[in-house]
Amino acid sequence: MSRFAVIKGKFHRVFFDEKLKSLKQFLRNGNYSSLIILTDSNTKRHCLPKLVDYCNLKTYHSLCLPAGEEFKTLDSAENLWEQLLPVSDRKSVLINLGGGMITDIGGFTASVFKRGIDFIHVPTTLLSMIDASVGGKTGVDFANYKNQLGTFCQPKAVFISTEFLNSLPHDELVSGKAEMAKHAVLNGLETWNEFVLNFNKTDSVKDQIETAIRFKLKITDKDLFDQGKRIQLNFGHTIGHALESFCLLTKKPIPHGFAVAAGMICELFISCKYFKLSEDFFNEQIIFLKNNFPKIIFNETEIEEILSFVASDKKNIGTKIKPVLLKRLGKPHMDKVVDLVTVKESLNYYRLL
Ligand SMILES: NC(=O)c1ccc[n+]([C@@H]2O[C@H](COP(=O)([O-])OP(=O)(O)OC[C@H]3O[C@@H](n4cnc5c(N)ncnc54)[C@H](O)[C@@H]3O)[C@@H](O)[C@H]2O)c1
Repeated sequence: MSRFAVIKGKFHRVFFDEKLKSLKQFLRNGNYSSLIILTDSNTKRHCLPKLVDYCNLKTYHSLCLPAGEEFKTLDSAENLWEQLLPVSDRKSVLINLGGGMITDIGGFTASVFKRGIDFIHVPTTLLSMIDASVGGKTGVDFANYKNQLGTFCQPKAVFISTEFLNSLPHDELVSGKAEMAKHAVLNGLETWNEFVLNFNKTDSVKDQIETAIRFKLKITDKDLFDQGKRIQLNFGHTIGHALESFCLLTKKPIPHGFAVAAGMICELFISCKYFKLSEDFFNEQIIFLKNNFPKIIFNETEIEEILSFVASDKKNIGTKIKPVLLKRLGKPHMDKVVDLVTVKESLNYYRLL
C-alpha cells in the first residue's frame, strides 16, 4: 500500500496518512468554531504531541480520561459533557485520539451532545484502526455489562497513522490481531491463510489493516443498524464479552482482543456441535488462536458467573442466546439458538485446552 491512501466508505472516508496532512486539511476545510481533542492518559502522553505537531494546531481544548475499559462509563461521558459545555457549540468538532475505549465513548459523547456534533476518529491501537473506529457503533458499558448504552453514529472521517503503533504495548498489538483473526475467519479460507502467513510480519501491517477495514466496511455499509449481515461481526463476542465483563468485575481487566480470541475458540467448539461437524473441523483455527493469544484463566466454579453474563448479552433475543456460529470458514450462521449447557461445555473445553 502506498504511504497515502483513502478508502471511500458509504458514510465516511478512511485516510491512511502517516503525517496526518489530510487531517490538517480536513480541519481547515471544516471551518469549525472550536476543536476539542479527547485522549486517555496514555494517548495524551504518547500521541497528542504528534497530532498537534503534524497538524500544526495552535488553538484547541484537550479532554482526558483515565486509561482503561473500566472508565468507558456513563459517569465518564457525563464528565465529558460538563467539560464540553463551556468550550463548544454545534459547530465544534471532537477528535477522538485513542484506542477503542476512546473512539467508543468519544463517539457516544459527541453523538448525543447538543443532539450531535461532528466527531473524527484518529485511532491509536491496532484494534481501533481495524475495527472500533469504522462502522459507526458508539457506546459505553453500563451496570457491569459491555456496550449497553450507545448510538449508531458515523464519524465525519477516520485518519490512520501507523506511527502511533510505535508506542503501543505489545499485548495491545496482539489484542488487535484477534479482531483481525475474526475478520479472516469470516472472510474465508484465502484470507485466513494470508492472515496466518502475515501474522508475525511487521512490514505488511499497513496492508493487513487495509484488508481488515475493507472487509468491515463491505459489511457495515450494507447493514448500518445491525439487522442482518453485520451481526456476523459479533463472532466470538457473545462469550468474549462475557469473559471481558467477568474479568472487569473481578478487577483483572484483559485486553478486548484476548477475550474475543477465547470467545472465538468457544464459539467454534459450539459450531462443531450444532452443525454436527467432526470434532477437529476447526482444529487449525482453534490451535492457532490458543497458541497465539494469552489464555484467560478461570476455574470451574467461576463459570456460573460467566454464564450469567452470557445470558444477559445484548445480542440475545429475549432469553434466547444466539452467538454467531460458523458452518465453515467464510460461512457464518446467525440464527441458531444455543443452550447454556453447551455454552458451559465450551467454556470447560477452553479451560482445559
Ligand atoms: N465500536 C466498535 O465497532 C468496536 C469494535 C471493536 C471493539 N470496540 C471496543 O473497543 C474497546 C477496546 O479497544 P482497544 O483494544 O483499542 O482498547 P483501549 O482503547 O483501552 O486501549 C488499550 C490500551 O492502550 C493504550 N494506548 C492506546 N493507544 C496507545 C498508543 N498509541 N501508545 C501507547 N498506549 C496506547 C490505552 O491507553 C489503553 O491502556 C472495547 O471497549 C471494545 O468494546 C468497539
